[in-house]
Amino acid sequence: MSVNLSRKKITTATIRAMKGREKIVSLTAYDYVTAKLLDEADVHLILVGDSLGMVVLGYESTLPVTMADMLHHTAAVARSKPKALLIADMPFMSYHLSEEQAVMNAGRFVQEAGAEGVKIEGGSPRMAARIKAIVEAGIPVFGHIGLTPQSVLEFGGYKIQGKTDETAKRLLDEAKRVEDAGAFAIVLECVPAELAKSITESIRIPTIGIGAGPHCDGQIQVINDMLGLATWPTFKHVKRFASVGDAMRTAVASYRDEVRSGKFPTNEQSF
Ligand code: KIV
Repeated sequence: MSVNLSRKKITTATIRAMKGREKIVSLTAYDYVTAKLLDEADVHLILVGDSLGMVVLGYESTLPVTMADMLHHTAAVARSKPKALLIADMPFMSYHLSEEQAVMNAGRFVQEAGAEGVKIEGGSPRMAARIKAIVEAGIPVFGHIGLTPQSVLEFGGYKIQGKTDETAKRLLDEAKRVEDAGAFAIVLECVPAELAKSITESIRIPTIGIGAGPHCDGQIQVINDMLGLATWPTFKHVKRFASVGDAMRTAVASYRDEVRSGKFPTNEQSF
């Protein structure tokens, strides 16, 4: 595979300018090596998602993820110096208390971990004020509405959002509020495809879908899910592009058998 070394650094301006021109390719990453591989594949945006809690740290939801967890993994991804735009997810309770708390924690992602922006969940007037305050501090914000996993307790589970006329209208209002607050793009998670289409057509910033159909300006997936590296049932919106989990099982079983039988190591691996 050829590595495109001439690729230009992607900024929030690049992502904004892609709306209506080119689909935006986004994936999550939580470590240095994975981020390097994504960047070699010309992914446009890398998100250090708080899905980290579920797919890497073994929690049942994203709620236990802390600032320390997110800073640690964001810094690892940032050391890969990606050409892709690097965004860090603000974890539960790191921006919920006040605008000051939100700006201070957003600033930590930039100063301490090397992120180029942060993602926050929600489109209520209160969350829009948080987005505005962070953007005014000079930190780009990636919005996120629909099935926002940090609200799982309030939603009563991981459910598709915006299925009724009333909730669809609420999501459209939220998207406009997030745009007006200054976000450079917005994740639409688990909403009906037709609603995602009408939101995409109603706002000027790019929409990045996950479980939101084909009409969004771009797509994002959790890397472990699309690589087949999940040991748990995945959602309907996940497409497996590889079976990395199966490849690991086979490799580890071969190693186990060769160590047991004395077939590994041979002279070739000895000094
Ligand atoms: O945490 C995450 O990985 C996310 C994406 C799925 C959008 O929020």
